[in-house]
Amino acid sequence: MNEERYLTFALTKGRLAEKTLKLLEKTGITCKEMEDKETRKLIFVNEEQKVRFFLAKGPDVPTYVEYGVADIGVTGKDIIMEEGRRCFEVLDLGFGKCRMCVCGPESARELLEHHQMIRVASKYPNIARDYFFNRKNQTVDIIKLNGSVELGPVVGLSDVIVDIVETGSTLRENGLGVLEEVCPLSARVIVNQVSMRMENERIKKLISDLKDALSE
Ligand code: PRP
Repeated sequence: MNEERYLTFALTKGRLAEKTLKLLEKTGITCKEMEDKETRKLIFVNEEQKVRFFLAKGPDVPTYVEYGVADIGVTGKDIIMEEGRRCFEVLDLGFGKCRMCVCGPESARELLEHHQMIRVASKYPNIARDYFFNRKNQTVDIIKLNGSVELGPVVGLSDVIVDIVETGSTLRENGLGVLEEVCPLSARVIVNQVSMRMENERIKKLISDLKDALSE
């Protein structure tokens, strides 16, 4: 164990970072600097505890972790699956719970059942591809969108979408519904593969402290 080295966290900017920090606080890891909600800073340090935090966009968190710029990352399972970066997923934090689903109008159910060549719009083309091609053995046409994906079937761009469903209200308000569930999602902790070896004791302790804090 090398106490001199900083343990670096890449957190997902926004609500996820706030929740993660609250949880870390329960394990004794704090960062005063980050309590200032007005700050535009992106890097925060706790010199005493030798920890550093980056605030990154979700899809970039696994990138920082794979390249070893951050030892530990916290982001959604959706992002981890979509990015497919090399890192270890070590803990399910249980918050940010939602589902990745195939959604569309009721009329699309038949197209799915008969393995038709359909158009699938998604912000998550890799997850959509993996689900249809590998899990369902269905060849589909995948169209990448960047948001407001529910528009796809409503305006006739696609037959269905693969998207996150939390409360289901976006679907309902646009006349769509869940047709199939791809997988459950939540916030996860990921670790750089080299850090896992080099900082094994420190990271193992952190994971165990986080587990304890979650069960409190
Ligand atoms: C997400 C997701 C759905 C919506 C699901 O979109 O892509 O559109 O939330 O939540 P609900 O089931 O509670 O309605 P987000 O708000 O992140 O915006 P986006 O459409 O720009 O991706």
